[in-house]
Amino acid sequence: MVKICCIGAGYVGGPTMAVIALKCPSIEVIVVDISAARIAAWNSDQLPIYEPGLDEVVKQCRGKNLFFSTDVDKYIREADIIFVSVNTPTKTRGLGAGKAADLTYWESAARMIADVSQSDKIVVEKSTVPVKTAEAIEKILTHNSKGINYQILSNPEFLAEGTAIKDLFNPDRVLIGGRETPEGQKAIQALKNVYANWVPEERIITTNLWSAELSKLAANAFLAQRISSVNAISALCEATGANVAEVAYSVGKDSRIGPKFLNASVGFGGSCFQKDILNLVYICDCNGLPEAANYWKQVIKINDYQKSRFVNRVVACMFNTVSGKKIAILGFAFKKDTGDTRETPAIDVCKGLLGDKAKISIYDPQVTEDQIQRDLAMNKFDWDHPIHLQPMSPTAVKEVTVTWDAYEATKGAHGVCILTEWDEFKTLDYAKIYANMQKPAFIFDGRNVVDPEKLRQIGFIVYSIGKPLDPWLADMPAVA
Ligand code: NAD
Ligand code: UDX
Repeated sequence: MVKICCIGAGYVGGPTMAVIALKCPSIEVIVVDISAARIAAWNSDQLPIYEPGLDEVVKQCRGKNLFFSTDVDKYIREADIIFVSVNTPTKTRGLGAGKAADLTYWESAARMIADVSQSDKIVVEKSTVPVKTAEAIEKILTHNSKGINYQILSNPEFLAEGTAIKDLFNPDRVLIGGRETPEGQKAIQALKNVYANWVPEERIITTNLWSAELSKLAANAFLAQRISSVNAISALCEATGANVAEVAYSVGKDSRIGPKFLNASVGFGGSCFQKDILNLVYICDCNGLPEAANYWKQVIKINDYQKSRFVNRVVACMFNTVSGKKIAILGFAFKKDTGDTRETPAIDVCKGLLGDKAKISIYDPQVTEDQIQRDLAMNKFDWDHPIHLQPMSPTAVKEVTVTWDAYEATKGAHGVCILTEWDEFKTLDYAKIYANMQKPAFIFDGRNVVDPEKLRQIGFIVYSIGKPLDPWLADMPAVA
């Protein structure tokens, strides 16, 4: 029986390994993590992450060929293939702070492998890493090798949160990069054999190591670039009376462009896009390519612009001040169908409104009060470090309340900001919400989930990203 060990039981390690276990009954899969709390949750009925379909997959295999453990050394030692799926956050201090990837967790995982291994291993980079990381890992392993043969593969993960199980069951492609030596090719084949249990062969791409590492950064940069492009157009739509939904539809009908990832929004969030682009920018700079670096940097700048443009719009519409006013926030997760708040645009929007002294009341169906308070108290980039390295008990922001009910959150509010596209926000009783709000009652839809015309009929003043402005808003000074 082939044994797989995955270091890192997070959003990627957990679901990916659960699906491998489900699709490959003859493989034993053990997921290990230094966080005892996370492992305990994986072994309980309350999994540590919310992901549609994940519970069923875990229930089918856990205890059969899928195990979760904190005994990192033991399972590394026993494994034939070791996936490393630890976090690779943006550095918060020192050389490259705010840009470069922090490989502390990756390096410590590699050193653990070197310390405890007693037999040959295939080590698979599952985390997103800077191009050329495999070379560094190879050095750490071979300089401590005790005669053991290590083959490093790059197998970046392309799943998106909220659709992780669907994406893993039916991936557009699986990418495996390895050395072009006979041993490297043999290792590629071994990993290919795992995926071949359910992924059609033509969708398994094999490349050299550096192409695989760089493809992951490039794919995320391309995806984020589409969102920044449509968001830049959304600002122009508001200024001219064009409708961004119509523009995106017309543009996306060109088969060379395609319809996906053209939804204008308050800005992209999530643990990957910003971090990976910053990393790409840093690598370009380090390779003496400032023009390429500046090109990609602009994707982040437009994203930051979109978030501050949204806050400015809210404040400007409400007579240039939100001081002391209750503003309801519907949705805090970075997208629907996840409880993940890493880099969610809601953090920046809330901080912006708090900066203007608003009182904020937040409702999200999947995010706890503790998480929200932690996010609002944390410094930029601290979020992606293990919980034990984060501030233990941040002081709660007292102007922020969190409820489990959208109607409670909006009661008595002057304005409502929709920041996550949860389906339930489409079917709320907006007449009831309107009746319980201060007047004039404003809705700022950062995800284009509500029908502005219907809400205007109720009496709301509505702002929808990139849509023709409400006559009320059109009279307001331009927002930059
Ligand atoms: P995560 O923070 O959810 O999980 C990482 C886990 O690794 C944590 O539980 C942490 O405790 C553990 N860990 C850190 N160092 C360890 C060590 N030395 N030994 C054992 N465990 C250790 O992160 P994630 O979202 O799963 O992302 C992991 C990697 O995958 C990152 O590089 C990320 O960029 C990449 N990625 C993420 C996504 C996504 O949607 N989240 C998608 C594709 C790729
Ligand atoms: C992303 C990549 O899609 C995935 O392939 C990679 O493995 C990890 O990073 P994820 O961050 O989980 O996945 O979600 P994604 O669906 O890409 O959304 C990222 C952000 O962009 C979200 O905040 C989302 O709301 C936003 N978005 C997405 C838009 O604003 N408009 C769109 O058209 C699409």
